[in-house]
Amino acid sequence: MRTTVPPPEPHRQGRTRAVAAAVAVTVLCTGSLAACGQEAKGGSRYQPDAGKGGTVGLAMPTKSSERWIADGQNMAKQFRKAGYKADLQFGDDKVENQVAQVENMIAKGHRLLVIAAIDGAALTDVLQRAADAKIPVIAYDRLILGTENVDYYASFDNERVGELQGTYLAEKLGLKDDKSEKANVEFFAGSPDDNNTKYFWDGAMKVLRPYMDSGQLTVRSKQTKMSQATTLRWDGGTAQKRMDDLLSKNYGSDRIDGVLSPYDGISIGVISALKSAGYGTGDKPYPVVTGQDAELASVKSIIRGQQTQTVFKDTRKLAKQAVRMSDAVLQGKKPKVNNTKDYDNGKKVVPSFLLDPVSVDKSNTELLVETGYYAEGQLK
Ligand code: GAL
Repeated sequence: MRTTVPPPEPHRQGRTRAVAAAVAVTVLCTGSLAACGQEAKGGSRYQPDAGKGGTVGLAMPTKSSERWIADGQNMAKQFRKAGYKADLQFGDDKVENQVAQVENMIAKGHRLLVIAAIDGAALTDVLQRAADAKIPVIAYDRLILGTENVDYYASFDNERVGELQGTYLAEKLGLKDDKSEKANVEFFAGSPDDNNTKYFWDGAMKVLRPYMDSGQLTVRSKQTKMSQATTLRWDGGTAQKRMDDLLSKNYGSDRIDGVLSPYDGISIGVISALKSAGYGTGDKPYPVVTGQDAELASVKSIIRGQQTQTVFKDTRKLAKQAVRMSDAVLQGKKPKVNNTKDYDNGKKVVPSFLLDPVSVDKSNTELLVETGYYAEGQLK
C-alpha cells in the first residue's frame, strides 16, 4: 500500500530510543522471565507456554465461498504439519455463530486463535475473554476492529487489490490511451462490516475517480458513494437484485460498458442480472466485469468470456503465512511482519504481513494451473 513514509528519525536518536527501550525492558524483566511476558522476546502481549503441541482454533466465516474452505483446510493441514492440532469452524456468515465458536475454542483451552471475522467489529467482548485466558489472536485476511486483543494480521495488500480492479477496468475500456473514449459503468462494493471493503473501494477509486472527474466515465445511477454500493455479507443474490434494479432504471436503450465488482461471488450475481437483461449476445456483449478470489466458477466464466477479470490471492500462501506467524508466537518468538503502519483497527496499529495479489484474465488463467492452484481438468 502506498502511503507517505515519514522521514526516518536521525540515526542517533533512533539508537538512543532503542537503547532506552532495551534498558527499560531489562529493568522490568529482572526477576522472573514470566513477568516479562512475550513483549521482551516475542512481541506478543501473551505468555503462551512456548513450544509445539496443543490445539489451534481456526474460525472461518462461511462455507458458501470455496475460498474460505480452502483457507481453513490449508491452515489445518499446515498446522498439523507444524506439530499442532487444528479445530476448524465455519460461522455460516452469522455473527452469533462465530462468536459462539470462538467462545467454545476459548473454553476448550486452545492455545491460539486465527479468525477471519464475519463482522470485523463484533468480536470485542469475546476477544477480551481470549485475552483474559492469555490466548493470542491472529486476524486472518480481514482485520478485527475496535480491540486491543488482536496480535497480528495476515492478509494481502487490500488497497492494491482495488487498484488492480480499477486499473483493469480503465485499461479495458480504453480510457487511458484515448482521452476521447467514454464509458458507462456501475460500482459494487463489499460487505459494509468487512474492513477490507473500504481498502478495495479506495484502491479502485484512486484509479477511477479521475476518469469520472474528466467526464470519461459516467455512472448513470449516480451511486458513486461506497455506502450506496455495498453488498451485505458479499452476497451474490443481493448483488444480482441491485444490478437488476440498476439496469432497469438507468439503462433503457443505453448499454453498460463496465462493472466494478470487488469479489467473484458478486460478479456472478451481476452477470446473471446482465444475462436476464439480454447481455451476452453478439449485438450486446457483456460489459467488462472485474472480480476477486479466482474462484473456480469465475475462472470458468472468464474462460467462457462472461466475467472478464479476477484478482488471484493464493490462499495457500496466506494460510502458510498465518501458520508461520502463529507458530512463531507459540514458540515465544516475534513473527516477521512487513507493514506496521497501515492497519489501524481503532485501538492499535496491528502489525501485519501483506502478500501480493495478482490480476488474472483470459490471457493468463494458465497461471492458476502452473502454480497448482487448480488442475487443468478443473478449468474445462
Ligand atoms: C473479503 C476477502 C475477499 C473475499 C470477500 C468475500 O474479506 O478479502 O477476498 O473473499 O471477503 O468472501
